[in-house]
Amino acid sequence: MMQRVPEPELMDAVEQAEAYAAADFSSPNGAFVEQVLAAMPRSTQRLLDLGCGPADICIRLARALPRLTVDALDGSRPMLDCARRALGAEPRDLSTRIRLLERQLPDPTLERQAYDAVTSNSLLHHLHDPQVLWQTVTKVASPGATVIVMDLLRPDSTSAAEAIVARYAADEPEVLKQDFYNSLRAAFTPDEVRAQLAEVGFSHWAVTVVSDRHLLVCGRVSADQAAL
Ligand SMILES: C[S@@+](CC[C@H](N)C(=O)[O-])C[C@H]1O[C@@H](n2cnc3c(N)ncnc32)[C@H](O)[C@@H]1O
Repeated sequence: MMQRVPEPELMDAVEQAEAYAAADFSSPNGAFVEQVLAAMPRSTQRLLDLGCGPADICIRLARALPRLTVDALDGSRPMLDCARRALGAEPRDLSTRIRLLERQLPDPTLERQAYDAVTSNSLLHHLHDPQVLWQTVTKVASPGATVIVMDLLRPDSTSAAEAIVARYAADEPEVLKQDFYNSLRAAFTPDEVRAQLAEVGFSHWAVTVVSDRHLLVCGRVSADQAAL
């Protein structure tokens, strides 16, 4: 089994953020949004998306649910500049429902129990300490909140990681290919994620492998787990 090799947390180089924002993630992002919509009650009003990047997922969610408001958090200003540009191309009744927050996790100023859904795609593997994500979730989620997190899976070997990059990013710029490879090496296995969840009392949450490179975590925060 390949050992985890952490990568830098923030994607704060302009070239890196621009390449990420320009890439076509419609397939995994669309699949993630479908999972969120299936798991989340239609009455959900306040959602927090952690590590939102260019906000493609936030925009898709806001399109699907016309009463949803989204706080889109990221610690990288260049990523949020891409997000701001994407929001600028949307109708005002959508863009005004998405608020961009430039914050780096862990962030002690985040409001307690404020959100009835928390989502995150491809943030977990960036965190040097993965508990930063799960502890943030317990703090910000209101009782009963839905939590859906998707991330990359760490392949068994460097050659398996190279094969995934070749399969899904062959035509992308070099900076994106390198980031993808680094991300695969920094990602966790499903068992590692289960162990992380057990530490915060979420061992009953489902961890499912949903593609050859993604895992999905889905759960609900109970009243006694919220803002522990
Ligand atoms: C791979 S991108 C994913 C973007 C987006 N969720 C998506 O699926 O398109 C990961 C994002 O997490 C952000 N990030 C990493 N560590 C962070 C931290 N500690 N606090 C806030 N944002 C962080 C990075 O800056 C980057 O924009």
